[in-house]
Amino acid sequence: MSWQLSKFGENLCGGSGIGELMDDLGEALAGGGEVKMLGGGQPAHVPEIDAVWRKRLEEIMAEPGGMEKVLGNYDVPAGNEAFRMALAKLFRKEFGWEVTHENFAVTMGGQTAFFFLFNALAGLFKDGSRKKVLLPLLPEYIGYANQSVGADFFEAIPAKIEKTGKHEFKYRVDFDAINPGDEIAAICVSRPTNPSGNVLTDGEIESLREIARKKGIPLIVDNAYGAPFPNVIFSEVTPVWDEGMILTLSLSKIGLPGTRTGIVVASKEVCRQVSSMTSIVGLANANLGQEILRPLVESGEVLRLSKEVVRPFYEDRSRRAREWFARELRDEVPYFIHRSEGALFLWLWFEGLPITTKELYQRLKKRGVLVVPSEYFFFGLPEDLDWKHTHECIRVSYTMDAETVEEGIKVIADEVNKLYREG
Ligand SMILES: Cc1ncc(COP(=O)(O)O)c(C=O)c1O
Repeated sequence: MSWQLSKFGENLCGGSGIGELMDDLGEALAGGGEVKMLGGGQPAHVPEIDAVWRKRLEEIMAEPGGMEKVLGNYDVPAGNEAFRMALAKLFRKEFGWEVTHENFAVTMGGQTAFFFLFNALAGLFKDGSRKKVLLPLLPEYIGYANQSVGADFFEAIPAKIEKTGKHEFKYRVDFDAINPGDEIAAICVSRPTNPSGNVLTDGEIESLREIARKKGIPLIVDNAYGAPFPNVIFSEVTPVWDEGMILTLSLSKIGLPGTRTGIVVASKEVCRQVSSMTSIVGLANANLGQEILRPLVESGEVLRLSKEVVRPFYEDRSRRAREWFARELRDEVPYFIHRSEGALFLWLWFEGLPITTKELYQRLKKRGVLVVPSEYFFFGLPEDLDWKHTHECIRVSYTMDAETVEEGIKVIADEVNKLYREG
C-alpha cells in the first residue's frame, strides 16, 4: 500500500546517501567480517574503552535503584540535569567558558541535533522568504545533505586545494568566495572535518566567527571528533565558543554510538529551543549514555581516556593506514592523501582518475571492500559547476581491526594502480 507523500515525506522517505551508508555498515557488521567495511563512521572497539563501559554498566546494576532509574524513567527533554551540570563544570575548568547546565541540551545523537538546528534556522520563513545554511568548506559531512524538511537549504563553497607534499594535500577555506547575503541563516563546519580529516586552523575559525558575528548569524561547529572528548584531533588547536556559536558534541566517537547521545552547547535560548524540539519529536532522550558517562565527566576521567587512550589509538591507526597506502600504491599514481589532522578516516584524491569514484566504489564492492565515493560529500553546489575533484576522491575508514584495514587497502590500491596503468 502506498499513499501520496507530503513534501516532508518526499524528502525524508525516499532514501539518501547516509541511509545507504548506514545500511551497508549494518549489513557488513552483521555479516561476520566477510566484507571489509572501510566505509562507515563506525568507531573502533578500543578494548580499554569497552572495559570502562562494562564497568560502568556493572556499577549501574549494583547501585540500588540504578538500573530502574536509567531504564524506567523519562528524563527532562533538555537532558539529565546532573549530566549537564557535570559538563558545564568540565567546560568551565577545561576551557574557561562561562557556561552553566542551561547552556547544554542533550539530543538523540549529533545527527538529530543537526536535523533540529538546520530546520529551525533555515528553510521557509513566515514572510515567504527562504534561508540557507552556508557550508564554507566543501566537501562536508554526508549526513547533513538530506536533512531539509522542505527545499534544499545548503549553499557550499568549494575548498581551495593546497598540495602540501608529493602525495599529500590540505583543504583551505576560500575566504575570497565567502560573502554571505541576507539569505544565509547560519554557517556550519565540522572540525575535524568529515570526510577529509581536515582541521580548520584557529585563524580560519576566527575569520568565520567574525563573518557570522557581522551578519548576526550563528556559527555552528560540529565537534563530533573534537575536544575535550573524544579528542580524535591530531593537531594543536584551540576550542572556542561564545553565545554567537553553537557547538555540538557526541558520545558516539568515544565509543557509545549505540546510546544515541548528542550534546548542543549554545546560548540558553537555543538550548531551550532544542529541548522544545526534543519533547515534540521524541518526548525525552535516551538515558543510558548520559548515565554511563556522567561520573567520568564529574571526575575528569573522560579527559584522560580521550587524551591517553582514544587519540593515540586513532593517531596510530591513521599513520599505519597511510604507510600501507604508500607501500601499495605505485609512486607514479597521482594520489594525494589529505593531511590527517583528526577523525576516523583518510581522504584520498586520485587526480585525473579515469572513472568516477562511484564506479570505483562498485568495483571495490564486488571485491568485498566498502569505501565511500566522494560524490556524496559534495552537495549545495550550483548544478552547472563542473568540478572534476568531486568524482576523484574516496573516504577510507581506519577503525576496523588492523588486518581488515590493511587487506582492504591492498585491494583499493590494486584497483587504482590498474586504472592508471590502463589509462
Ligand atoms: C561530522 C559528524 N557529525 C555528526 C555525526 C553524527 O553522529 P551521531 O549522531 O552518532 O552523534 C557524525 C557521525 O558520523 C559525524 O561524522
